[in-house]
Amino acid sequence: MVGMVVTILAGASALCGLGRVWADDAAVDYTKIAPADLIAKTPQGKLANPYNDTQAGIVAEGGKFLQSYSCSGCHGGGGGGGMCPALTNDIWVYGGDDDTLFRLVTLGSDELQKQGYTRKGRENVVGPMPPFGAIIKNADDLWKILAFIRSKYSGDPGYKFGTPPDQQ
Ligand code: HEC
Repeated sequence: MVGMVVTILAGASALCGLGRVWADDAAVDYTKIAPADLIAKTPQGKLANPYNDTQAGIVAEGGKFLQSYSCSGCHGGGGGGGMCPALTNDIWVYGGDDDTLFRLVTLGSDELQKQGYTRKGRENVVGPMPPFGAIIKNADDLWKILAFIRSKYSGDPGYKFGTPPDQQ
């Protein structure tokens, strides 16, 4: 079975050049995969948003999802906080990179901590974020939400995607 998969992969990479395993994986159809399944098949640190916050249509959709998935009930409609931490400032609780945010929203704080993550940043409110992996329909919806959150960022530009490597 494994041998067969390897053969198929080898065939595919022979068609499009060698060493394209990650490029092949990047072709995952995010609209067809649940957030938790994407996490399960992706090594830690390798999740990257296919969208960015200059794509107005994507950002608008993400903003609607923030409301419809009721993130806004806790974080406010613009992500600026409310009862819960602001998503728009430069304090990132576990890290501000795409990979960490995707995992936090999907797994929730408790499960993320079980996987070895610890709170590095401290917001005005400290409490657990509930897991949304079973609620958000697919990974594409979550990427759009995260693009919206990026678009609302109002902190130090150098910290938009987390603490820069030379400051860690
Ligand atoms: C019941 C309230 C609640 C809801 C609903 C909620 N969150 Fe959270 N969220 C929190 C809390 C509390 C934290 C802080 C987690 C911690 O300290 O472990 C948090 C943290 C976060 C962070 C990290 C913020 C930072 O500064 O590092 C992001 C991103 C986030 N939530 C996105 C979302 C998204 C997207 C949704 C909807 C799919 C959502 N949240 C729904 C309570 C909530």
